[in-house]
Amino acid sequence: MCGIVAYIGHREAYPVVLKGLKRLEYRGYDSAGIALMHEGNLNIYKQQGKVSELEQVTQGQNLQGGIGMGHTRWATHGAPNNVNAHPHTGSNGKLAIIHNGIIENYSSLKVELARKGHQFKSETDTEVLIHFIEDIQTHEKCSLEEAVRLALTQVVGAYAIVVMDEKDPSTLVAARKGSPLVVGIGKGEYFLASDATPIIEYTNEVVYLNDFEIAVIRNNTLQIKNTQDEVSNPYIQVLDMELEAIEKGGFDHFMLKEIFEQPRSIADCLRGRLKADEGYLKLGGIREYANRLENADRIIIVACGTSWHAGMVAEYLFEEFCRIPVEVEYASEFRYRNPVIKEGDVVIAISQSGETADTMAAIELAKSKGAIIFGVCNVVGSSISRITHEGAYTHAGPEIGVASTKAFTAQLTVLAMMALQVAFKRGTLPLTQYNQMLIELETIPSKVEKALQLNDQVKYISELFKDARNFLYLGRGYNFPVALEGALKLKEISYIHAEGYPAAEMKHGPIALIDEEMPVVFIATRDKSYEKIVSNIQEVRARKGRVIAIVTEGDTVIPEMAEFVIEVPATHEALMPLVSVIPLQLLSYHIAVMRGCNVDQPRNLAKSVTVE
Ligand code: F6R
Repeated sequence: MCGIVAYIGHREAYPVVLKGLKRLEYRGYDSAGIALMHEGNLNIYKQQGKVSELEQVTQGQNLQGGIGMGHTRWATHGAPNNVNAHPHTGSNGKLAIIHNGIIENYSSLKVELARKGHQFKSETDTEVLIHFIEDIQTHEKCSLEEAVRLALTQVVGAYAIVVMDEKDPSTLVAARKGSPLVVGIGKGEYFLASDATPIIEYTNEVVYLNDFEIAVIRNNTLQIKNTQDEVSNPYIQVLDMELEAIEKGGFDHFMLKEIFEQPRSIADCLRGRLKADEGYLKLGGIREYANRLENADRIIIVACGTSWHAGMVAEYLFEEFCRIPVEVEYASEFRYRNPVIKEGDVVIAISQSGETADTMAAIELAKSKGAIIFGVCNVVGSSISRITHEGAYTHAGPEIGVASTKAFTAQLTVLAMMALQVAFKRGTLPLTQYNQMLIELETIPSKVEKALQLNDQVKYISELFKDARNFLYLGRGYNFPVALEGALKLKEISYIHAEGYPAAEMKHGPIALIDEEMPVVFIATRDKSYEKIVSNIQEVRARKGRVIAIVTEGDTVIPEMAEFVIEVPATHEALMPLVSVIPLQLLSYHIAVMRGCNVDQPRNLAKSVTVE
């Protein structure tokens, strides 16, 4: 949520910052702004709307300067408009700040500063912070970095900030607590960004700032200290990320590219971890605490959104294969309801971004009560991957489309491997069945490839249903979370109201919604509850609902009763979500495009939700 980027070095800052903002736009796109330092003067340009609108506003302006910073906003405090857009300045206009996060005690600080004569232009918490830094600088007569440090010792909340000062025009000061910030180290130049995507075309050497750390960059040196003024050595990591991974590569949208990447992203997730012909399965990131997972009395899974749906599938997997009771919790509910957590309990936290505020808070809570936390994250080096005890990356590559697709299937892949590994160790899955599951798992990328060939058929169906006002998604067993995921995908990018339900629950309420206008998507592949879901389809047909059914290839029963059938390749029911979700992703994509929606940047959403 909110993207920040900054540059200091031998290039002109503007093109680097602007390109960086475009890369980060998926984090928020209400407004954007840039500050440039040229010959000791700060020039600031801000604009409500997309980065492209900012670009128009800056045309013909003075865009010189070797130091600059930019921000793309997802509004928290104050409406998205030019005044609330970042960067914000203090009273004298000499200090500027960009910020991702929320300053929780901003109103008390604001009252105090107003009493001292500070006047505010915006409704934002960020403007209060820069006035506070300015106030300290004036009264303590201290340097910019010291004023930032002192201010941060009194700030409550989350932040990733970058500050520039006309009085110290060759310095960038940045800091983080709770919101991500990466420093890129080039030759004679430095980059700062919310994630590595704006950085990797210049350098793959990065430092992930830790909470309470402050980076001071000047005279081609980087110094890192904490808010207690203790200096530390930067830990430089080398990133393994290709530029093509963050470009559209000929697709109309990132979402479509990411949907079509899934055979490869699932294969990447399995690579080096699974060799079915040798009966080999190993998640290298789970070592020291592996026995805690294997001997768990229960597992609690915490996540949000699509990651929570992956957690639901994991519940079925762990209970079926490992015979361990599992509770799947919305991180936001878990953290506030005084949950019962015992020393040694096992928690699995699932997060694509690895930055979701509620999931982070749920982890911290569970950790404070002595739980062992395993992370399933996509973004390498993300906050969640660093605060968990151990874990496994999903290796899906950067997911830029706001609607999660390839990250979901990669999460399912990791969770299936985790469950199988634990089941093997516990001896709860007979060896022959275990080996069969490994063989089946290895075939998933090719089955997903085959499911993607349904694209034209799904597009045709999308055309027929694009004007529907509501959709129901129904599934049972492993396909129930898929129904939830299908409904979420549709509503978030096409703004059509959609509900996911366990198919059997339909008769306890939602059946009242069914009439000749209601599209009902059944995920009805062959599994234990196949006969039951066939009856549910009949119930919908009897009430004239319009049935679109996802079935297993070769099904002869459901085509007799459904208006449309979409046939996906057969696989073990526990792995079916990996395949059955593909047509649902395509359906939501095509419907949204046909309705003229901005698929990659749906309204009101942001890719990584770093506020609660
Ligand atoms: C839906 C979607 C969101 C995220 C949720 C959690 O397409 O992307 O529902 O799944 O915000 O985000 P992560 O996985 O980054 O914790």
